[in-house]
Amino acid sequence: MSGRLAGRRVLITGGEGFIGSNLAAACLAEGAIVRSLDVGLAGTGYDPRNLDGLDVERLTGDIRDSKAVEAALDGVDLVFHCAATTAHGRSLKAPLENLSINAEGALVIFESVRAVNPTATLVYVGTTTQLGPIGEASADEDHAQQPVELYSAHKMLAERAALIYGKSHGLAVSAVRLPNVYGPRMAVHDPGLSFLGWFIGLGLRGERLTVFRPGTQLRNIIHVDDAVEGLIRAGLRDETRGQVTVVGHPAHAAVIDAARAIAAHIGGEAALVDWPAGRKAIEVGHARLDCRRSWVRLGWKPGITLADGLARTGAWFRRHREAP
Ligand SMILES: NC(=O)c1ccc[n+]([C@@H]2O[C@H](COP(=O)([O-])OP(=O)(O)OC[C@H]3O[C@@H](n4cnc5c(N)ncnc54)[C@H](O)[C@@H]3O)[C@@H](O)[C@H]2O)c1
Repeated sequence: MSGRLAGRRVLITGGEGFIGSNLAAACLAEGAIVRSLDVGLAGTGYDPRNLDGLDVERLTGDIRDSKAVEAALDGVDLVFHCAATTAHGRSLKAPLENLSINAEGALVIFESVRAVNPTATLVYVGTTTQLGPIGEASADEDHAQQPVELYSAHKMLAERAALIYGKSHGLAVSAVRLPNVYGPRMAVHDPGLSFLGWFIGLGLRGERLTVFRPGTQLRNIIHVDDAVEGLIRAGLRDETRGQVTVVGHPAHAAVIDAARAIAAHIGGEAALVDWPAGRKAIEVGHARLDCRRSWVRLGWKPGITLADGLARTGAWFRRHREAP
């Protein structure tokens, strides 16, 4: 098998979720031998159909169980840590579960790599929501992190821990932050997960995509194929070791324009509505990213346009899923 990962053995935690499963497909296409460790957590983007048709070794286990993690690490030379409990709002209602999975669980991964497989390369998947409110600025890789909900705070903690493991224990660690990701295999039924997934689901059903007015806050939005290309490059390129690399798109879109694009390329109709009580507390305003340093480290930058990516996403859901 040829490809950039020919013969490499890859472990993806959270491999049955949205990004993990797309990453699994991309790693297979690059010639890797792929294993997933996933516990099948409700309230996340977990969907066992995500790995259907892919030659992936599926392990069922919890990242907080060091025995399960150590077994999953056997013979592996590249680890992508994607597993997480991913609902931002819910992290305020179940703070200890969130801490336990997103921070402690990550530490179990790092500690297990150190103990049983210290030559493996580890890619930690973080989120640009770790930054919190950025204001009018464009945030680069060094921008201060002031998360406004516990999911992002715990992701930030785990990212710091990953980099500390790299430095203190000599592990090959790359920390990657992703912005808003959309595409095939994403969860489209749960408004508590990504707003893009929720809107895409509404669009597929021909319903109203309700945006809290005025919806002008800018977001960095990437197609999952760009996200996984960034992750694979981070896994391969020494330039990303010990660094925070942000896989952001050169273009930004207002939330209302993203909703209109979903309506145009997938279905439904965008409509402005008032904010529901309590939701504004975790709103961060504009989220502009300056990823120039990261693009140099990656030797590449995301390039899939919103229009093209949404059209491909709509076509994929219509072909592979029942009416959502
Ligand atoms: N989707 C996005 O827009 C986005 C943006 C930035 C960062 N991220 C990060 O990327 C990673 C993947 O996100 P996603 O959207 O694919 O999430 P997802 O919710 O689709 O998938 C997460 C997966 O992790 C698994 N999981 C949860 N807890 C586990 C545990 N204790 N042990 C084993 N498996 C467990 C779930 O079962 C699920 O399959 C996460 O770390 C997330 O923080 C995602």
